[in-house]
Amino acid sequence: MAAGQGTRMRSARPKVLHTLGGRHLLQHVLAAAAGLGAKRLIVVTGHGADQVETSVGAPGLAFVRQQPQLGTGHALQQAAPLLDDDGMTLVLNGDVPLIETETLQRLVEAATPAQLALLTIELAEPRGYGRIVRSGRDCAVDSILGIVEEKDASEAERAIREVYTGVMAAPTRALKRWLAELRNDNAAGEYYLTDVVGLAVAAGVTVTSVAAASETEVLGVNSPVQLADLERRYQRAAAVRLMEGGVRLADPARLDQRGELVCGKDVEIDVGCIFEGRVELGDSVRVGAYCLVKDATVAAGATIRPYTHIDGEALGARVGAGATVGPFARLRAGATLGRDVHVGNFVEIKNSTLGDGAKANHLAYVGDATLGERVNFGAGAITANYDGANKHRTTIGDDASIGSNCVLVAPIEVGAGATVGGGSTIAKTAPAGQLTVARARQQTFAGWKRPVKK
Ligand code: UD1
Ligand code: CA
Repeated sequence: MAAGQGTRMRSARPKVLHTLGGRHLLQHVLAAAAGLGAKRLIVVTGHGADQVETSVGAPGLAFVRQQPQLGTGHALQQAAPLLDDDGMTLVLNGDVPLIETETLQRLVEAATPAQLALLTIELAEPRGYGRIVRSGRDCAVDSILGIVEEKDASEAERAIREVYTGVMAAPTRALKRWLAELRNDNAAGEYYLTDVVGLAVAAGVTVTSVAAASETEVLGVNSPVQLADLERRYQRAAAVRLMEGGVRLADPARLDQRGELVCGKDVEIDVGCIFEGRVELGDSVRVGAYCLVKDATVAAGATIRPYTHIDGEALGARVGAGATVGPFARLRAGATLGRDVHVGNFVEIKNSTLGDGAKANHLAYVGDATLGERVNFGAGAITANYDGANKHRTTIGDDASIGSNCVLVAPIEVGAGATVGGGSTIAKTAPAGQLTVARARQQTFAGWKRPVKK
């Protein structure tokens, strides 16, 4: 169910499209459900339906629209025609993102054609959740009579700490009957899905509960505060997994993973780093403080110094073994650095290959270029790769040296072992092994005097 507006988020974005660990809330839920091998996966959309459907659409996923949104029971009524009577229906809330497949599996196994199964948990702070009302006070033995929503609960009912997590498994044929009987005579004026529990009890069907494995997996996101709380829990768990794999984190509370981070042995990560997309760090890689690394591979022994920004986008970025990048460096899509390359402060590299041992240590732009091995690309030098309409390549042979403040006007070639004098703007081939200089010759005017005020 993903049709609700999420009023308490106070956001124009549909709630289920807010992100947690770099993925939409709804994507987390769908990923958990995907592992169950369900015959059919249906998402009920409504508020911001177009946006939700384009954001999470995938083969095999069906969408049903709920317009207007009259409550969770009404949401499920829209999906009912798509459900096979003889099957089992698992209901998930699109705003309960960290639910685990294993828990869902246990819940599905607890439901039978004659038994409804609810995923519940006891919370120290149950406010906002539907309470599980039982025949007595003992969750272990007393049978479930119904669910009462917070808004409709009496003071005694509000004291109940066992809550409904928003996840249930029900025999479909019976579920459809109960859905048809829902009424909206409650505090919210909505058709509550939770009312099917009372209807099941009235029909003599047993309602059983399965306890969630942890609080984190069943917490719902209704407000920015709850979203941030869940994000921290998610990040903490991800950091613990890394540390259990041997990664040394300066502070697990100051690391953000918004994708897939794969680390070798003896990796060290300083505070404030953000990893997005797919990132691989080889053995003994060190990442300094406050780096952002996205869609990149960093080979063994490389060092990423503080405040470096690496974003491989679609093409990816690669840092070779033993290379040093940063501080304050920027690698963009298609940056490919060989072994022992040095890239220093305020150097930007895009769609370029730097051969083994090449260096660009200060204030440079290398775009659409191929640099051979051991090339030295001087401070302030740039490739002028764009002529206003098209991009052109620069090719620099092994052991060439580009002086400070040069402009290499592409397309252009610098031969192996060539030296380009500092301050040159070159637009023609610089031959291998020779010195090429392209700048006004220095002159000294003997006897010249500065003008003086009359
Ligand atoms: C719901 C449960 C509550 C439970 C809690 C767990 C009901 C009536 N209450 O409350 O017992 O403790 O979840 O997190 O079910 N939605 C629709 N269409 C609608 C309304 C909601 O698709 O008309 C979707 C929302 O997008 C959301 C989910 O259903 O993904 C839950 O809706 P929400 O309004 O957040 O319900 P809660 O008040 O949290
Ligand atoms: Ca909710």
